[in-house]
Amino acid sequence: MTTLFTFFLFLLPILLLLVGRRSSAKRVPPGSLGLPIIGQSISLLRAMRANTAEQWLQERVRKYGPVSKLSLFGKPAVFIYGPAAHKLIFGSDSNTVSNQQAKSSQMILGDRNLLELMGEDHKRVRGALVSFLKPESLKQYVGRMDAEVRNHLQLNWEGKQRVTVLPLMKGLTFDIICGLLFGLEQGTRREKLVSRFQQMIAGIWSVPFNLPFTRYNHSLQASSEVQTKIKELIREKRQELERGASPNQDLITRLLSIRDENNQQVLSEDEIVHNVTLVMVAGHDTSAILITFMVRLLANDPHIHAAVLQEHEGIAKGKTPGGFLTWEDLTKMKYTWRMALETLRMVPPVFAGFRTALKDIEFGGYLIPKGWKIFWALSMTHMDNTIFPEPTVFDPTRFENPTSIPPYCFIPFGGGPRVCPGNEFARIETLVVIHHLVTGFKWKLCHTDSFFSRNPTPEPTEGLPIEIIPRT
Ligand code: HEM
Repeated sequence: MTTLFTFFLFLLPILLLLVGRRSSAKRVPPGSLGLPIIGQSISLLRAMRANTAEQWLQERVRKYGPVSKLSLFGKPAVFIYGPAAHKLIFGSDSNTVSNQQAKSSQMILGDRNLLELMGEDHKRVRGALVSFLKPESLKQYVGRMDAEVRNHLQLNWEGKQRVTVLPLMKGLTFDIICGLLFGLEQGTRREKLVSRFQQMIAGIWSVPFNLPFTRYNHSLQASSEVQTKIKELIREKRQELERGASPNQDLITRLLSIRDENNQQVLSEDEIVHNVTLVMVAGHDTSAILITFMVRLLANDPHIHAAVLQEHEGIAKGKTPGGFLTWEDLTKMKYTWRMALETLRMVPPVFAGFRTALKDIEFGGYLIPKGWKIFWALSMTHMDNTIFPEPTVFDPTRFENPTSIPPYCFIPFGGGPRVCPGNEFARIETLVVIHHLVTGFKWKLCHTDSFFSRNPTPEPTEGLPIEIIPRT
């Protein structure tokens, strides 16, 4: 018996080692990393373009379960989804999960942009942006935003019988950003910036082959030109400030004016350039997409259209002719904003994102190895029928009581310390645009399909051409 016991004691460490090895090997999530660099990038991008990305992800879940490994944009990654996954992504401290993006997108946007910064640096730069983008500060710009929208409609919609919504809305949100955030008036400079900017954006979600004919290479070149133009703008703004211009004139003058206790500029030149570039990218496509899909939904649903129109006619009646919208008017657009939230649930402009594991992380019984990317996709949660009953039905009343939606379940603007700082800006521009569209025009869709392609952001068929007539 003693011999047997001694033999067992001798064997125990070896057995533990073997069991430990087997279980830690088991704990790396299932899945394949695919070919080097390419991995599953092309397959995912193809699915996104064909509007089958949700099925692509569901297929992974069917094959490998809720946690699986893959390789995207040159890096090994673990795909996770659902409220617990979003809690890990948005609620973890900065020692566990970092927001650092793939090197390829860092090369385009610059390494001092908010997405790349962590800890105190992130707080400092984000605080500077939020000092301009917070509601109390934005309140005073509603009238200017209204003026940009009216001007756009006069130039591009009035007198036309047919317009294509998505490109026009991209132009409008770009103009609003240029006007309000960068103080860049209309003219050839804006136009040159917009064309280079579109080229820059196209490469952010592309396979990072830096060869002369690739999308990625064109994007890098465009990024360098965009940054040169922003530097010129900063130089001019600095001179304007020296001549006594108000620091609150626009976002750039605000960023240049924030000083620490030693009267030193809080943001470096690179931080201003890279974050102005980020704001252009983060704030232009996203809002344009939201407005475009609202236009499509309004054309498809007469009941929702009637409710929205009633809300806006009520507001318009209370205004003097030609009077600009005010912050108070926006607070009355409750139904329209619920409709916007439901649009964001069904067609979130940001489909997915990445984080980096800074240490080995256990999630769902598996290991996310240190240094790997964590790939999250929100539409699977937004379309989960245990959270949103009958998820394919468009129903703005879901948002009548926002507290009824559990945490980490509705995340079109992300969550936690990195929640979108532009959400209020997006809310104001969406409400102002919808106000002028519904009170100014009636419209009919040229294509009645409900298709959209993610390229990488959602695009309806041919950018949503519509026939319009002025509402008298
Ligand atoms: C409908 C419109 C918008 C949507 C759906 C949206 C969505 C998002 C999401 C999901 C994130 C978080 C990404 C992550 O955690 O990985 C984010 C971050 C961000 N957004 Fe927005 N956004 C919108 C409009 C805007 C606007 C108008 C601006 C600027 C004026 C803006 C600026 C930013 C910035 C700077 C970040 C990075 C925040 C950080 O890392 O701390 N966004 N946005």
